[in-house]
Amino acid sequence: MPISTPLFCADSARRERAAQLAERYALPLVRQRPSSGYWLEMGFERLELVTTGKHGAVYAEFAEGAARHRREQGGGRGQPVAKAIGLKGHPGEMRVVDATAGLGRDAFVLASLGCQVTLVERSPVAAALLDDALDRASVAPDIMEIAARMTLVHADAIRWLVALPAEARPDVVYVDPMFPETGKSAAAKKDMQAFQQVIGDDLDSGALLAAAIAAARGRVVVKRPRLGAAITGIPPSACLEGKSTRFDIYSIKALVSAGKRAE
Ligand SMILES: C[S@@+](CC[C@H](N)C(=O)[O-])C[C@H]1O[C@@H](n2cnc3c(N)ncnc32)[C@H](O)[C@@H]1O
Repeated sequence: MPISTPLFCADSARRERAAQLAERYALPLVRQRPSSGYWLEMGFERLELVTTGKHGAVYAEFAEGAARHRREQGGGRGQPVAKAIGLKGHPGEMRVVDATAGLGRDAFVLASLGCQVTLVERSPVAAALLDDALDRASVAPDIMEIAARMTLVHADAIRWLVALPAEARPDVVYVDPMFPETGKSAAAKKDMQAFQQVIGDDLDSGALLAAAIAAARGRVVVKRPRLGAAITGIPPSACLEGKSTRFDIYSIKALVSAGKRAE
């Protein structure tokens, strides 16, 4: 069980919002800036995960930086993730559950492609960072329309998917779990290293895959490092490789015809 991460408000004008987030995600609101470990800091601009150590601040961001670059230059419907979810040829608006929302980068790409995305995140720290970024995005003229297609749910996706009523089942469940670090992934981006420290590894991805397969109407897509192992259990029906990423695709139609899932 990860230790609970404190939230410190560094800007008096943001006190009310900090208190709201602390209550919503059961984070201890502290009056003094911690002097060690990791904590969430609410500043004038945004909420950040910070530390006294060598890691830089971690925050979710949809309007600027990498998210903006990807939105403007990312290749639209031709990019591998669009192919992996089967966007082309899908009638109407696609409903996607991102069962491992993290900092929402993949969810934002999917929403930019026109999907309705439910972001499920169990970590209170990640959920608070997402809540803050969605709040900022909802008033940013360039992306408010995209943000309106994103809905945050703070829950364990395994239980949440199991409890989903039939009429709410999504076309696609997207899964990108945090795997234990190997030598090769040690060079993973700094923010994910900080994240890994605070959130810990996702050791139950087999159960998440099973819940995702039971809930999806069309397919489950699992994002992995290009050379990473697949989630153990049911083998994927297809794989789509990008430069550094691989998408393992579990087609529900194929699983139903192989008798591995009920219709
Ligand atoms: C590798 S990160 C995902 C990064 C994300 N795809 C992005 O673009 O920012 C994995 C995240 O999934 C969350 N997670 C893992 N298993 C989960 C579950 N069963 N339910 C909800 N969240 C889960 C973790 O807390 C972590 O924040």
